Amino acid sequence: MTSIDRERLAGLLEDERAEHSLRTPGSRKLYESADHLFGRVPMTWMNKWSGGYPLYLATAHGNRITDVDGHEYVDFALGDTGAMAGHSPEPTVRAVQRRIGEEGGITTMMPSGDAEWVAADLTRRFGLPLWSFSLTATDANRWALRLARLVTGKPRVLAFSFCYHGAVDETFVMMGPDGETLLRSGNVGPSRDIRDTTRAAEFNDLESVERALAHGDIAVVITEPALTNIGIVLPEPGFLDGLRELCTKYGALLLIDETHTISAGPGGCTQAWGLQPDIFVIGKSLGGGIPCGAYGITHEIAERVRDYPDADLVDVGGVGGTLAGNVLSTAAMRATLGEVLTDSAFQHMIALATRYREGVDDVIARHDMPWSITQLGARAEYRFARPAPRTGTDSANAYDGELEEYLHLFMANRGVLMTPFHNMALMCPTTTAADVDLHSALFAEAVRRLVG
Ligand SMILES: Cc1ncc(COP(=O)(O)O)c(C=O)c1O
Repeated sequence: MTSIDRERLAGLLEDERAEHSLRTPGSRKLYESADHLFGRVPMTWMNKWSGGYPLYLATAHGNRITDVDGHEYVDFALGDTGAMAGHSPEPTVRAVQRRIGEEGGITTMMPSGDAEWVAADLTRRFGLPLWSFSLTATDANRWALRLARLVTGKPRVLAFSFCYHGAVDETFVMMGPDGETLLRSGNVGPSRDIRDTTRAAEFNDLESVERALAHGDIAVVITEPALTNIGIVLPEPGFLDGLRELCTKYGALLLIDETHTISAGPGGCTQAWGLQPDIFVIGKSLGGGIPCGAYGITHEIAERVRDYPDADLVDVGGVGGTLAGNVLSTAAMRATLGEVLTDSAFQHMIALATRYREGVDDVIARHDMPWSITQLGARAEYRFARPAPRTGTDSANAYDGELEEYLHLFMANRGVLMTPFHNMALMCPTTTAADVDLHSALFAEAVRRLVG
């Protein structure tokens, strides 16, 4: 396999940084003059963009973004799945305009009929019969964990090493070399020792799951059906079935978080692979970019919650948010699910992700790079390891910040945006084969320069 010449990489990265700075003076100026923003950005994670500062947005439609310097980009980041429906999809825009204009009301403390329509569609897609809404997947996860602790009477959560489920305290775990549960490095101001709330296990390792469950104190196993936030780590055959069986055996609930993995199809992995979660969480994509999230539960869990009449689900019990389920987000979800993220849109998106994967794979093979690419429906991600990592820890070890920044900047300087937190590309209903081929050609050129 070809090894990376680090000196050559450092030189290429310098060139791309210089080009980025020359190309984007408008973005740089806005960043440098943002004296009243913590970290100079509206949210500190926006400093993750390669090149030292983010590109500033002018316009975004479909899979095209224009920055304040007038450059147009093919957007494969798509708001890290928040804009999986494409930017400002027509039906969602119309529904939102109608809601806030003609009809009026953004948030009123009252429901509209849209909520039941959306819940029924979520049932059709994912199978869970009862739904509740939030504004983010983070909140949906937090509230779902509370319900799980309530109905099982158990205190802890099992989470996989290097998982990500939003800013959910219980899930910032990694497994130590001896299988111990450790706080993931970099965690900001943890409220308590992670070992009080969580046991870590390794994805694709049922023995580690059973070891954790055998303590008898796990209320819920929370997982994505394939890890997506440490690169894509697909489940090996039998892993998810084994997980379901172990949860049942040890009286733990299974929470499947499909916030990203809905890329697998209109009903996510849950529909595609016939999964049987007790609790289901999703966010980001549902509202075409308007904030929303949801969790679904089984009738059995709903019954078990009713056994705790003192659990305050309507006021200050720790489940809920004033703007959650507001009529604007339910209108946006109805339009996005009903008219944009349709079955035929998924067929188109998945075919393009396949084309994207093949384009990248071809370059990896041609140059015998020590890399791999993994596809999950409409998304694909390359990783600096071959074979593809099979656990979160393996995948974390494959991280190469310099290489990632070089490839991301190489793309951005030539009009293609990758997701800042990943080497991930996501397709939306308006992505075209030509967009994918542009990426393939640029990727080939970036790698050609790297190997010399
Ligand atoms: C699997 C998963 N769940 C939950 C979240 C949290 O989403 P949000 O930040 O919109 O709350 C994320 C965010 O990346 C995610 O990837």
